[in-house]
Order: sequence, then C-alpha cells, then structure tokens
Amino acid sequence: MSSQENQPGPTLYGGVRRGRISITDLIHAKTRGERWPMITAYDALTAKIFDEAGFPAILVGDSAAMVVYGYDSTIPVTVDELIPLTRAVVRGSSRALVIADLPFGSYQSSVMQAVDTATRFMKEAGAHAVKLEGGQRILPQAEALVAAGIPVIGHLGLTPQSVNVLGGYRVQGRGESGEKLLQDAKSLAAVGVSAIVLECVPAELATRVTAALPIPTIGIGAGGGTDAQVLVWQDLCGLTDDPAPKFVPRYADTRGVIADAVARWAEDVRSGHYPDSSHTYQ
Ligand code: KIV
Repeated sequence: MSSQENQPGPTLYGGVRRGRISITDLIHAKTRGERWPMITAYDALTAKIFDEAGFPAILVGDSAAMVVYGYDSTIPVTVDELIPLTRAVVRGSSRALVIADLPFGSYQSSVMQAVDTATRFMKEAGAHAVKLEGGQRILPQAEALVAAGIPVIGHLGLTPQSVNVLGGYRVQGRGESGEKLLQDAKSLAAVGVSAIVLECVPAELATRVTAALPIPTIGIGAGGGTDAQVLVWQDLCGLTDDPAPKFVPRYADTRGVIADAVARWAEDVRSGHYPDSSHTYQ
C-alpha cells in the first residue's frame, strides 16, 4: 500500500484509484458521512475529464434526449440511442461507477421488460448500475433487477418521464404527497435499491428522506440535506442556453468560449490568416 492509501480522508471524490468505485462504496460513504458529487456525461471525452477530476459516479442520463439528441423532453429517447452513449462513457472512464438511465417505455410494462432492458445496458454498454423513475409502481421491477444482480438507483420527486401526468416540471412532494414520497423511498430501499435520486423536492422533505434511509440520496433541486448532489454537466458549465431552474449554478460559460473560438477561427479563414506556415506541412 502506498503512503497515500494510508491517509485518512475522503475515498469517493478524488480518492485514490483502485479500480472502479462500487455501489457498496457509495453506501459506505453514507455511514462515514461523506458527501459526494455525481455528474452526467454522454461521451468518452467528457467522461474522461470527470473521471480524472475524481467524480465517483457518472450518470448517462436520459437527459441525453435534450442535450445530445435535441428532443424537447426525455420521452422520445430510446434504448438504442442511449446504449452507444453509455458505452462511450464506460470507455472514457476507469474509476467512476457508470449509471445508465433506463428510458421511458423500456421498463414500465413488465418485470421481464425491465430485466431485458437493464441486461442490455450491462452487457452491451458495460454499465455498472441502472436508474429508473418511480416509486410503488416500479417496485416489482426494482426487486427483480436486484435479484438479477443489477444494482439499481431509484428516482423520486420530479420524474421527467412522467411530465405529462405531473402537469409540468414543478416541485413535487409538497404537503401530503411528501409522506407518499417518503414511503416510496423506504419501499425502494427495502427491495434493495442502492441509492435514490430526489429531484425538485422541498429541502426539508429531502433531509427527512435522507435521515430515514440506510442508502444514499442524490439531490437535484432538493436542498443541501442529501448525501450527494447531481447536475447535468451542460447546465453546470453553461453550454445550454435555456433558462435554468434556480438550483442550477453556472460555473462556466462554455457556450461563450466555444462561440468565441469558432467565430475567431472563421474570421481567420475568411481573412487568410489561417492556415499560416505553423499549420502547414512543407
Ligand atoms: O437524466 C438525467 O440527467 C437525470 C438527472 C437530472 C438526475 O435523471
């Protein structure tokens, strides 16, 4: 063991590299009280950046529907569209646990459908865990996946695949529905789900759910009381230009950086400054 490995301290974000982070590493972090960040990725290059930065978990979200494929919701994206992205993220990373989102329509209709879809993500894409949205109604699917040896991440609160039932992208779990969400979270944990994403729920509810569960909660728009936080990287880094919800911080202006770079290059092409002798084989 190197002296670095003997150091106490965080073992998830930026911890030493001993191969892939496992789902049990994430659960153990909760017992140590270690908070950690998760981020989305959809290609090998960004996966490598996030992996080298030390992110313990990378989500290949069905948000790819919007940020990769240009759909206006997550509903249309298919398994065949997400598998190549997941495969690229697995190839681009060596330490992070890669979680594949099961898209709308790929697990709801039966337990068998859920196991078949998740198996494809594990075998064809090399995913290490799958995420599916919903509480009580997907419990049989979650239980069957766990029994099949597939680590499962739940997703409660604002579940974008149900946007047409929820009546829009709005905060969930206010008032009495908060109790239902808490029960859903406990039921998911009881059937062996390894972590739960809590999206757009009041901070007080997310903190209660977090305290009630032995598994990590991963918040997005759920306040500071969850065990982990997740964001879509294009939101965090300012690549998207849509008006962002209030929980999205802009840590960079990637859109501006790219727009500036390509505009300057285009100008150099037009003016004849590109290519110069340094770009040219003699
Ligand atoms: O699809 C996604 O990126 C997600 C996160 C926002 C949690 O589900």
